[in-house]
Amino acid sequence: MSLLTDKKILLGITGSIAAYKVADWVRALRREGCQVTVVMTEAACRFISPLTMAALSGNPVHTGMFSAEAPETIPHISLAKEHDLLLIAPASAQTIARLAHGLADNLLATIALASSGPILVCPAMNSVMFQHPATQANLAIIRSYGYQVIEPDCGKMACGDEGPGRLTEWENARQAILTAFAPQDLADEQVLITAGPTRESFDPVRFLSNPSTGKMGYALAATARQRGATVTLISGPTGLTAPPGVRCIHVTTAVEMQAQVMACLEATTIVVKAAAVSDYRPAEPQPHKVKKGEAALSLPLVANPDILKELGKRKRDSAKFPLLIGFAAESRDHLTEGARKLQEKNLDLIVVNDIGGTEETGFGADTNRVTLLDRNGAQEDVPLLSKEETAHRIWDAVARLIDG
Ligand code: CTP
Repeated sequence: MSLLTDKKILLGITGSIAAYKVADWVRALRREGCQVTVVMTEAACRFISPLTMAALSGNPVHTGMFSAEAPETIPHISLAKEHDLLLIAPASAQTIARLAHGLADNLLATIALASSGPILVCPAMNSVMFQHPATQANLAIIRSYGYQVIEPDCGKMACGDEGPGRLTEWENARQAILTAFAPQDLADEQVLITAGPTRESFDPVRFLSNPSTGKMGYALAATARQRGATVTLISGPTGLTAPPGVRCIHVTTAVEMQAQVMACLEATTIVVKAAAVSDYRPAEPQPHKVKKGEAALSLPLVANPDILKELGKRKRDSAKFPLLIGFAAESRDHLTEGARKLQEKNLDLIVVNDIGGTEETGFGADTNRVTLLDRNGAQEDVPLLSKEETAHRIWDAVARLIDG
């Protein structure tokens, strides 16, 4: 089950060499349970075959204003009514001009005029064409209609030129689609999220850390952005890319994370501490690699600051303080431990997960099963879900706290 399951997406493909790339987008949408119908302009059919798109989408492809099979139907009206979102990708300069000026001289442009739902436009063209004032003016016009324009990437183009104009990556388009369907209930919020592990160096080649991959924290950042929040992510070392539209600050140690959290606090309304912070660090990090000796080695450690506890303390003394959301990953007595941390760290909500369970809920998994405990004594057992869906359940609970 995905957040896109059963959504009806109408994909409009126009005449751009990037047309072949959206063949993969169709597969990705279908993997998430979307129903995809494809409309292609005449120029698009020169770049990629309608047969390919029909096979990938599992639906007939529409190319003309009038249906030969069912002459009694009006395709542009029925197609405009039957989808939840119109995604135009790649969108050529010509199609963008058509959309801007309300032309209805092909099926795709006519559907766009007849649609009342969300329209996402992913431009792809030569960078000089993209930067031309005519194209930029047309993009400004379609933005003023409420169409969402997803900026193209910069880089080397098929024609050899370099600059902005490459079709955006699928992940950016996916986030924009999810945003179109998400409630905008965090639109007034400035969210600060910590994610991933911290690393505490012992010498230049060794460190203390934990297996956190940051997936839960990054999912929280992406979903908060989808729900309209301004998001800052403070991330320990992970292999992940920050979600589009999220400001990401990279740190390594707990002390660095603490400094960044405190520096960002003033402009924040919600703090979510999803990071797995190392509780200790080596007392005396060595400047050079420690050589092995005969005897056993003992490593003196000192305690790291408990960032969340410090925030909870400050919250006690302040009338206006961000909402505080903590995590507790426990291998036993998880509910008792979660409730204790909620109290001791003076939190509004704690997300408790039992890492002693199965592989589906451990470090690095794509799924999670959590229990939410809030300051009012409410408990919600969230079933096993993807981390993205779990993140939405956490934001639902946060939105209830804000309302309440
Ligand atoms: N946390 C923190 N700073 C630390 C340790 C933890 O901000 N030095 C935060 C985590 O980001 C998490 C919450 O506190 O949101 C609970 O972390 P956890 O490691 O489960 O608990 P600890 O307080 O470290 O207690 P213990 O290790 O004894 O379970």
